[in-house]
Amino acid sequence: MGRPVTVITGASAGIGVAFARVFARHGHELALVARRAERLNALADEIAAGGARRPLVIADDLASAGTAARIGAALAQAGAEPQYVVNNAGFGLVGPAAARDRDGQLQMIDVNVRALAELSLGFVDSLARHRGGLLNVGSVAGFLPGPGMAVYYATKAYVLSFSEALHSELKPRGVRVTVLCPGPVPTEFAERAGIRRAPSKSVLTQSAEHVAEAGYRGLMRGERVVVPGFANKLLTFAVRVVPRGAVLRLVEARQKRRRSAPGT
Ligand SMILES: NC(=O)c1ccc[n+]([C@@H]2O[C@H](COP(=O)([O-])OP(=O)(O)OC[C@H]3O[C@@H](n4cnc5c(N)ncnc54)[C@H](OP(=O)(O)O)[C@@H]3O)[C@@H](O)[C@H]2O)c1
Repeated sequence: MGRPVTVITGASAGIGVAFARVFARHGHELALVARRAERLNALADEIAAGGARRPLVIADDLASAGTAARIGAALAQAGAEPQYVVNNAGFGLVGPAAARDRDGQLQMIDVNVRALAELSLGFVDSLARHRGGLLNVGSVAGFLPGPGMAVYYATKAYVLSFSEALHSELKPRGVRVTVLCPGPVPTEFAERAGIRRAPSKSVLTQSAEHVAEAGYRGLMRGERVVVPGFANKLLTFAVRVVPRGAVLRLVEARQKRRRSAPGT
Protein backbone atom coordinates (compact mmCIF):
# COMPACT_ATOMS: atom_id res chain seq x y z
CA MET A 1 0.00 0.00 0.00
CA GLY A 2 1.40 3.43 -1.00
CA ARG A 3 1.50 6.52 1.19
CA PRO A 4 -1.92 8.25 1.09
CA VAL A 5 -1.97 11.59 -0.74
CA THR A 6 -4.59 14.08 -1.87
CA VAL A 7 -4.41 14.72 -5.62
CA ILE A 8 -5.58 18.23 -6.54
CA THR A 9 -6.00 19.11 -10.22
CA GLY A 10 -5.89 22.72 -11.36
CA ALA A 11 -3.67 23.63 -8.39
CA SER A 12 -1.79 26.36 -10.29
CA ALA A 13 -4.49 29.03 -9.89
CA GLY A 14 -7.72 30.12 -8.23
CA ILE A 15 -9.79 27.64 -6.26
CA GLY A 16 -7.16 24.89 -6.74
CA VAL A 17 -4.52 26.93 -4.87
CA ALA A 18 -7.04 27.50 -2.08
CA PHE A 19 -7.79 23.75 -1.93
CA ALA A 20 -4.08 22.98 -1.63
CA ARG A 21 -3.73 25.35 1.32
CA VAL A 22 -6.85 23.99 3.06
CA PHE A 23 -5.87 20.32 2.67
CA ALA A 24 -2.27 21.06 3.73
CA ARG A 25 -3.52 22.94 6.80
CA HIS A 26 -5.52 19.86 7.77
CA GLY A 27 -2.39 17.69 7.55
CA HIS A 28 -2.89 15.96 4.18
CA GLU A 29 0.10 15.22 1.97
CA LEU A 30 -0.56 16.61 -1.51
CA ALA A 31 0.07 15.93 -5.19
CA LEU A 32 -0.47 19.08 -7.25
CA VAL A 33 -1.49 18.74 -10.91
CA ALA A 34 -1.75 21.34 -13.71
CA ARG A 35 0.21 22.38 -16.81
CA ARG A 36 2.12 25.32 -15.30
CA ALA A 37 4.82 23.50 -13.32
CA GLU A 38 6.57 26.64 -12.13
CA ARG A 39 3.42 27.77 -10.31
CA LEU A 40 2.94 24.32 -8.78
CA ASN A 41 6.55 24.33 -7.57
CA ALA A 42 6.14 27.78 -6.00
CA LEU A 43 3.03 26.56 -4.14
CA ALA A 44 4.82 23.36 -3.09
CA ASP A 45 7.68 25.47 -1.69
CA GLU A 46 5.22 27.68 0.19
CA ILE A 47 3.50 24.65 1.75
CA ALA A 48 6.84 23.03 2.66
CA ALA A 49 8.00 26.31 4.23
CA GLY A 50 4.95 26.07 6.52
CA GLY A 51 6.35 22.82 7.95
CA ALA A 52 4.38 20.26 5.91
CA ARG A 53 5.89 17.56 3.67
CA ARG A 54 6.62 19.14 0.26
CA PRO A 55 3.77 18.31 -2.15
CA LEU A 56 4.52 16.17 -5.20
CA VAL A 57 4.35 18.22 -8.39
CA ILE A 58 2.88 16.55 -11.48
CA ALA A 59 2.83 18.69 -14.63
CA ASP A 60 0.14 17.24 -16.88
CA ASP A 61 -2.23 18.38 -19.61
CA LEU A 62 -5.64 16.98 -18.65
CA ALA A 63 -6.93 17.55 -22.16
CA SER A 64 -4.78 14.64 -23.24
CA ALA A 65 -6.31 11.16 -22.70
CA GLY A 66 -4.62 8.82 -20.22
CA THR A 67 -4.16 11.27 -17.36
CA ALA A 68 -5.11 8.73 -14.65
CA ALA A 69 -2.37 6.36 -15.84
CA ARG A 70 0.19 9.19 -15.99
CA ILE A 71 -0.72 10.53 -12.52
CA GLY A 72 -0.90 6.98 -11.08
CA ALA A 73 2.60 6.23 -12.42
CA ALA A 74 4.04 9.48 -11.01
CA LEU A 75 2.52 8.72 -7.60
CA ALA A 76 3.72 5.09 -7.62
CA GLN A 77 7.25 6.28 -8.37
CA ALA A 78 7.07 8.39 -5.21
CA GLY A 79 5.63 5.48 -3.19
CA ALA A 80 2.23 7.23 -2.93
CA GLU A 81 -1.37 6.55 -3.95
CA PRO A 82 -4.56 8.63 -3.82
CA GLN A 83 -6.64 8.86 -0.65
CA TYR A 84 -8.57 11.86 -1.95
CA VAL A 85 -8.90 13.20 -5.50
CA VAL A 86 -10.03 16.79 -5.96
CA ASN A 87 -11.17 17.18 -9.57
CA ASN A 88 -10.97 20.95 -9.72
CA ALA A 89 -9.28 21.75 -13.07
CA GLY A 90 -11.67 23.25 -15.58
CA PHE A 91 -12.42 26.22 -17.78
CA GLY A 92 -15.26 27.88 -19.67
CA LEU A 93 -15.65 29.79 -22.93
CA VAL A 94 -18.25 32.51 -23.37
CA GLY A 95 -20.12 33.03 -26.66
CA PRO A 96 -22.69 31.19 -28.80
CA ALA A 97 -21.57 27.56 -29.22
CA ALA A 98 -21.91 27.48 -33.02
CA ALA A 99 -19.79 30.64 -33.40
CA ARG A 100 -16.98 29.79 -30.98
CA ASP A 101 -13.97 27.75 -32.06
CA ARG A 102 -14.87 24.07 -32.12
CA ASP A 103 -11.51 22.75 -30.89
CA GLY A 104 -11.52 24.91 -27.76
CA GLN A 105 -15.00 23.73 -26.84
CA LEU A 106 -14.13 20.07 -27.40
CA GLN A 107 -11.01 20.55 -25.30
CA MET A 108 -13.26 21.92 -22.56
CA ILE A 109 -15.22 18.65 -22.65
CA ASP A 110 -11.90 16.76 -22.48
CA VAL A 111 -10.82 18.63 -19.31
CA ASN A 112 -14.13 19.30 -17.52
CA VAL A 113 -15.76 15.94 -18.33
CA ARG A 114 -13.47 13.24 -19.70
CA ALA A 115 -10.47 13.86 -17.42
CA LEU A 116 -12.79 14.26 -14.41
CA ALA A 117 -14.47 10.93 -15.20
CA GLU A 118 -11.11 9.23 -15.77
CA LEU A 119 -9.74 10.46 -12.44
CA SER A 120 -12.99 9.69 -10.60
CA LEU A 121 -12.99 6.08 -11.76
CA GLY A 122 -9.26 5.42 -11.98
CA PHE A 123 -8.38 5.21 -8.29
CA VAL A 124 -11.48 3.80 -6.59
CA ASP A 125 -9.64 0.83 -5.03
CA SER A 126 -7.03 3.14 -3.54
CA LEU A 127 -9.68 5.60 -2.27
CA ALA A 128 -11.52 2.68 -0.63
CA ARG A 129 -8.31 1.30 0.94
CA HIS A 130 -7.62 4.68 2.55
CA ARG A 131 -11.26 5.43 3.47
CA GLY A 132 -11.00 8.60 1.37
CA GLY A 133 -13.05 10.09 -1.42
CA LEU A 134 -13.65 12.36 -4.37
CA LEU A 135 -14.36 16.07 -4.40
CA ASN A 136 -15.59 17.07 -7.85
CA VAL A 137 -15.93 20.75 -8.69
CA GLY A 138 -19.16 21.48 -10.53
CA SER A 139 -20.88 24.87 -10.53
CA VAL A 140 -24.23 26.52 -9.95
CA ALA A 141 -24.17 26.47 -13.78
CA GLY A 142 -24.74 22.71 -13.57
CA PHE A 143 -28.31 23.28 -12.39
CA LEU A 144 -29.42 25.24 -15.48
CA PRO A 145 -29.02 25.41 -19.26
CA GLY A 146 -26.60 28.12 -20.39
CA PRO A 147 -27.22 29.82 -23.74
CA GLY A 148 -24.15 31.98 -24.38
CA MET A 149 -21.97 29.45 -22.56
CA ALA A 150 -23.78 26.28 -23.59
CA VAL A 151 -20.92 23.76 -23.59
CA TYR A 152 -19.59 24.93 -20.22
CA TYR A 153 -22.98 24.71 -18.48
CA ALA A 154 -23.51 21.25 -19.99
CA THR A 155 -20.12 20.04 -18.73
CA LYS A 156 -21.09 21.14 -15.23
CA ALA A 157 -24.50 19.42 -15.52
CA TYR A 158 -22.50 16.27 -16.28
CA VAL A 159 -20.29 16.80 -13.21
CA LEU A 160 -23.35 17.22 -10.98
CA SER A 161 -25.24 14.19 -12.35
CA PHE A 162 -22.20 11.90 -12.48
CA SER A 163 -20.98 12.83 -8.99
CA GLU A 164 -24.38 12.40 -7.35
CA ALA A 165 -24.70 8.96 -8.92
CA LEU A 166 -21.17 8.00 -7.83
CA HIS A 167 -22.00 9.19 -4.31
CA SER A 168 -24.62 6.41 -4.16
CA GLU A 169 -22.56 3.79 -5.98
CA LEU A 170 -19.41 4.20 -3.88
CA LYS A 171 -21.02 4.68 -0.46
CA PRO A 172 -21.12 0.93 0.25
CA ARG A 173 -17.34 0.85 -0.31
CA GLY A 174 -16.77 3.63 2.22
CA VAL A 175 -15.73 6.16 -0.45
CA ARG A 176 -17.11 9.68 0.00
CA VAL A 177 -18.16 11.57 -3.14
CA THR A 178 -19.04 15.25 -2.92
CA VAL A 179 -19.84 17.67 -5.72
CA LEU A 180 -19.02 21.31 -4.93
CA CYS A 181 -21.13 23.82 -6.89
CA PRO A 182 -19.87 27.39 -6.45
CA GLY A 183 -21.40 30.54 -7.86
CA PRO A 184 -19.06 33.28 -9.15
CA VAL A 185 -15.54 33.25 -7.67
CA PRO A 186 -12.94 35.91 -8.60
CA THR A 187 -10.10 33.86 -10.19
CA GLU A 188 -8.45 33.63 -13.61
CA PHE A 189 -11.58 31.84 -14.86
CA ALA A 190 -13.28 34.93 -16.34
CA GLU A 191 -10.22 36.00 -18.33
CA ARG A 192 -9.66 32.48 -19.69
CA ALA A 193 -13.37 32.32 -20.66
CA GLY A 194 -13.13 35.54 -22.66
CA ILE A 195 -15.44 37.45 -20.34
CA ARG A 196 -14.73 41.13 -21.02
CA ARG A 197 -16.86 42.63 -18.29
CA ALA A 198 -15.17 41.60 -15.07
CA PRO A 199 -17.95 40.06 -12.97
CA SER A 200 -19.02 42.73 -10.49
CA LYS A 201 -19.21 41.54 -6.92
CA SER A 202 -22.74 40.40 -6.11
CA VAL A 203 -24.51 38.50 -3.36
CA LEU A 204 -23.59 35.35 -5.27
CA THR A 205 -19.82 36.02 -5.20
CA GLN A 206 -17.66 33.97 -2.81
CA SER A 207 -13.89 33.97 -2.33
CA ALA A 208 -11.81 30.99 -3.49
CA GLU A 209 -10.79 30.41 0.13
CA HIS A 210 -14.39 30.29 1.35
CA VAL A 211 -15.40 27.93 -1.47
CA ALA A 212 -12.46 25.58 -0.87
CA GLU A 213 -13.14 25.50 2.88
CA ALA A 214 -16.84 24.70 2.26
CA GLY A 215 -15.84 21.91 -0.15
CA TYR A 216 -13.38 20.42 2.33
CA ARG A 217 -15.93 20.45 5.17
CA GLY A 218 -18.63 18.94 2.95
CA LEU A 219 -16.33 16.15 1.78
CA MET A 220 -15.23 15.26 5.30
CA ARG A 221 -18.87 15.16 6.42
CA GLY A 222 -19.79 12.93 3.47
CA GLU A 223 -22.23 15.44 1.97
CA ARG A 224 -23.48 14.72 -1.56
CA VAL A 225 -23.81 18.30 -2.88
CA VAL A 226 -22.29 21.50 -1.46
CA VAL A 227 -23.47 24.89 -2.74
CA PRO A 228 -21.48 27.58 -0.90
CA GLY A 229 -23.42 30.69 0.15
CA PHE A 230 -27.08 31.26 0.96
CA ALA A 231 -27.85 33.22 -2.25
CA ASN A 232 -26.39 30.46 -4.42
CA LYS A 233 -28.39 27.81 -2.55
CA LEU A 234 -31.52 29.87 -3.12
CA LEU A 235 -30.71 30.13 -6.83
CA THR A 236 -30.36 26.36 -7.23
CA PHE A 237 -33.80 25.94 -5.63
CA ALA A 238 -35.38 28.76 -7.68
CA VAL A 239 -34.35 27.26 -11.02
CA ARG A 240 -36.34 24.14 -10.18
CA VAL A 241 -39.60 26.09 -9.86
CA VAL A 242 -39.17 28.95 -12.38
CA PRO A 243 -40.37 27.93 -15.90
CA ARG A 244 -37.45 26.69 -18.03
CA GLY A 245 -38.17 29.25 -20.80
CA ALA A 246 -37.72 32.12 -18.35
CA VAL A 247 -34.48 30.60 -17.03
CA LEU A 248 -33.14 30.35 -20.61
CA ARG A 249 -33.95 34.00 -21.31
CA LEU A 250 -32.34 35.19 -18.06
CA VAL A 251 -29.12 33.23 -18.59
CA GLU A 252 -28.88 34.31 -22.23
CA ALA A 253 -29.22 37.99 -21.27
CA ARG A 254 -26.53 37.61 -18.56
CA GLN A 255 -24.06 35.91 -20.92
CA LYS A 256 -24.63 38.56 -23.62
CA ARG A 257 -23.57 41.24 -21.16
CA ARG A 258 -20.38 39.34 -20.31
CA ARG A 259 -19.38 38.51 -23.88
CA SER A 260 -15.89 39.56 -24.98
CA ALA A 261 -16.54 40.54 -28.61
CA PRO A 262 -19.46 40.48 -31.07
CA GLY A 263 -19.86 37.10 -32.72
CA THR A 264 -17.61 35.22 -30.28
N1 LIG B 1 -14.36 31.04 -10.92
C1 LIG B 1 -15.66 30.80 -10.98
O1 LIG B 1 -16.49 31.74 -11.04
C2 LIG B 1 -16.17 29.38 -10.89
C3 LIG B 1 -17.52 29.16 -10.56
C4 LIG B 1 -18.00 27.87 -10.49
C5 LIG B 1 -17.15 26.80 -10.76
N2 LIG B 1 -15.85 27.03 -11.09
C6 LIG B 1 -14.99 25.87 -11.38
O2 LIG B 1 -13.91 25.87 -10.47
C7 LIG B 1 -12.81 25.16 -11.04
C8 LIG B 1 -11.54 25.97 -10.84
O3 LIG B 1 -11.67 27.18 -11.58
P1 LIG B 1 -10.99 28.55 -11.14
O4 LIG B 1 -12.08 29.54 -11.00
O5 LIG B 1 -10.06 28.33 -10.02
O6 LIG B 1 -10.22 28.90 -12.51
P2 LIG B 1 -8.71 29.30 -12.81
O7 LIG B 1 -8.21 30.29 -11.82
O8 LIG B 1 -8.70 29.66 -14.26
O9 LIG B 1 -7.91 27.92 -12.61
C9 LIG B 1 -8.15 26.83 -13.48
C10 LIG B 1 -7.18 25.70 -13.16
O10 LIG B 1 -7.47 24.62 -14.07
C11 LIG B 1 -6.24 24.20 -14.66
N3 LIG B 1 -6.42 23.68 -16.00
C12 LIG B 1 -7.13 24.25 -17.02
N4 LIG B 1 -6.94 23.53 -18.15
C13 LIG B 1 -6.10 22.50 -17.83
C14 LIG B 1 -5.51 21.44 -18.56
N5 LIG B 1 -5.72 21.27 -19.88
N6 LIG B 1 -4.69 20.57 -17.93
C15 LIG B 1 -4.42 20.75 -16.60
N7 LIG B 1 -4.95 21.72 -15.86
C16 LIG B 1 -5.77 22.60 -16.46
C17 LIG B 1 -5.38 25.47 -14.69
O11 LIG B 1 -4.00 25.09 -14.71
P3 LIG B 1 -2.98 25.33 -15.93
O12 LIG B 1 -3.51 26.43 -16.78
O13 LIG B 1 -1.68 25.64 -15.24
O14 LIG B 1 -2.93 24.01 -16.63
C18 LIG B 1 -5.74 26.12 -13.36
O15 LIG B 1 -4.95 25.57 -12.34
C19 LIG B 1 -13.20 24.90 -12.50
O16 LIG B 1 -13.65 23.58 -12.63
C20 LIG B 1 -14.33 25.87 -12.75
O17 LIG B 1 -15.20 25.42 -13.75
C21 LIG B 1 -15.33 28.29 -11.16
